[in-house]
Amino acid sequence: MDKMMKNHDDLKHRRASIEMTPDQFRALGHSLIDRLADFLGDLPTLPVTRGKSPGELRSLLHAERSLPENGADPNALLSAASELLIENSLFNGHPRFWGYITSSPAPLGVLGDLLASAINANVGGWKLSPMATELETQTVKWIAELLGYPSDCGGVIVSGGNMANFVGVLAARAAKADWDVRAVGLNGKPARQLRMYASGETHTWIHKAADLFGIGTDAIRWVATDKEHRMDVADLRRQIEEDKSRGDCPFLVVGTGGSVSTGLIDPLPEIAAVCREHDLWFHVDGAYGGFAAAVPGISEDLLALSQADSVAVDPHKWLYSPLEAGCALVRDAEVMRNAFSYHPPYYHFAEETTNYVDYSLQNSRGFKALKVWLTIQQVGRSGYAKMIGDDIRLAEALYDRLDEHPDFEAFTQSLSITTFRYVPAYLRERVGSPNAEEYLNDLNKEILVRLELGGEVFMSNAVIDDRFLLRTCIVNFRTSLEDIEALPDIVARYGREVDAELRKEHRKVS
Ligand SMILES: Cc1ncc(COP(=O)(O)O)c(C=O)c1O
Repeated sequence: MDKMMKNHDDLKHRRASIEMTPDQFRALGHSLIDRLADFLGDLPTLPVTRGKSPGELRSLLHAERSLPENGADPNALLSAASELLIENSLFNGHPRFWGYITSSPAPLGVLGDLLASAINANVGGWKLSPMATELETQTVKWIAELLGYPSDCGGVIVSGGNMANFVGVLAARAAKADWDVRAVGLNGKPARQLRMYASGETHTWIHKAADLFGIGTDAIRWVATDKEHRMDVADLRRQIEEDKSRGDCPFLVVGTGGSVSTGLIDPLPEIAAVCREHDLWFHVDGAYGGFAAAVPGISEDLLALSQADSVAVDPHKWLYSPLEAGCALVRDAEVMRNAFSYHPPYYHFAEETTNYVDYSLQNSRGFKALKVWLTIQQVGRSGYAKMIGDDIRLAEALYDRLDEHPDFEAFTQSLSITTFRYVPAYLRERVGSPNAEEYLNDLNKEILVRLELGGEVFMSNAVIDDRFLLRTCIVNFRTSLEDIEALPDIVARYGREVDAELRKEHRKVS
């Protein structure tokens, strides 16, 4: 054994099984790109999803196979993988995908990801990624400009909205706790009970943040909302004052610029004023709606995200970047650095360069900025203003169509989110009665399930005042008016079918 280990002849001209010749790589790459170009062209004619069960997918994958002992032909592997995915995926790039908040991916971004992984820059330290780091810095600056946020801010590209919001919370915690929270933590002397404030419309990242960073979800103060479900600033002020007088340490207020359910925008200017008054950190979750700030004529409330100490936005939502790309901006770059940096002896990085490891939770970091950088230049500020504005106009058009339609009750429309429900004509008169409401909830839940399996359109749901609603969110540059106009009849068809079946079970309301 020892002898074998010492014989290194085979390593003289090493040929690792994972390697490819440039010609092999070229041939494989060309056929993959050809396949993907066809796929992109075919997208509008494909079902949004094929609605297969986990069991069916596992059997296609031969999920029971054990780990391969030996290798296989990369060409065969890549074509099999393409077919598996193209035949069995849900396509958020489809013109009729309007679920959750996931955008169609920009084709140039798709190619950017290929380039990024070929370079494989580790954007944790400048010297490991000299051009990639500079390019990320430029991307962050352009994102800030697009939002109307100070462009000399600190910022970092992260995996998505959750992580971008986490960065804001950590920066706030380090900046506003009046003890050295990074060293002492939350329990040692002289720590006090930290308090963060948000409305119940805040996305659930806030639970994870409070939990993971040791603050505890019980420390979140849930601020009341007005009848439009926007934060009630008087209640915010009252709760902060109460907590301060109790000796707690209020440190952070979260305002939302485009809520996940309905796209509502909190009164950000008023929240900013309360934060100034009480010396609290003002964070805006603009993961969904932030980029709408680039659209001329958008609400002044949203534009006030420019006053925040930190902002989370998501290029993989309204910049149409392929997953994953989020972005955290912190007004004061030095404050941001102070929340994350350590200097271990094994990282010999020059202080005068930007080392993103000092500004983020991650250590090794991929090159997510490239796809964003490319599309920002492909379309420019005006291109984004137009596309985002068009998405909003389509959501407005959909609301109007639903509002006029006898089978629907249109509920809300804000930014590019529209909520509504199917209401059979015979129930119109009884809307609001407990029995009818219970039935409408069951009916619309089942409509959604069947729509998801059907593959004609894809949407998700919102719950407002205990009503289960259908919800479309258009962050999709492929959606046109024709797609929107097709929606009411498609949903009504499912509605009639489900209603006919459910009525038999709910005799009490029929
Ligand atoms: C307002 C808001 N914040 C945060 C998030 C979380 O973003 P991500 O899924 O990119 O982590 C979402 C997701 O939809 C969101 O709508």
